[in-house]
Amino acid sequence: MKVPHPMPRLLRSAIAWLALSCGFAAQTHAASKNPQALLAQHTCTACHAQDQKIVGPSFNDIAKKYPGKAAYLEGKIKLGGTGVWGNLSMPPQSAPDEDIRTIAAWLANGMK
Ligand code: HEC
Repeated sequence: MKVPHPMPRLLRSAIAWLALSCGFAAQTHAASKNPQALLAQHTCTACHAQDQKIVGPSFNDIAKKYPGKAAYLEGKIKLGGTGVWGNLSMPPQSAPDEDIRTIAAWLANGMK
């Protein structure tokens, strides 16, 4: 007579549960969206730095120029543009709307 020991199965489901809840924790963390991490993730930082001009203006200068203008910034990031800071243009950005909104709000809010 062989009765399978229930322990391994329990253990397996405990491990699955743990892995799952860790996965959720990681996701929640990613959803709390650090604007600076988004800038790097969407390669804005190839052309923009925090406090100096590269190809585009620094984020400090942008934040200073557009306090409270989140909607304007959101549109400009999506569509790109030229002629505001010089002759160089910014190509339209294909980051998810939600991420662009987070970045625009962060800039409009003085990067707080
Ligand atoms: C290929 C280089 C490049 C990349 C990549 C880039 N930008 Fe720009 N960005 C520019 C340039 C150049 C300007 C200045 C455009 C002008 O003078 O109108 C600019 C301007 C801006 C402005 C100010 C717009 C205005 O009307 O004053 C914001 C905000 C901005 N960028 C955000 C971003 C964000 C956020 C990303 C990433 C999702 C990004 N940029 C990626 C080059 C870039």
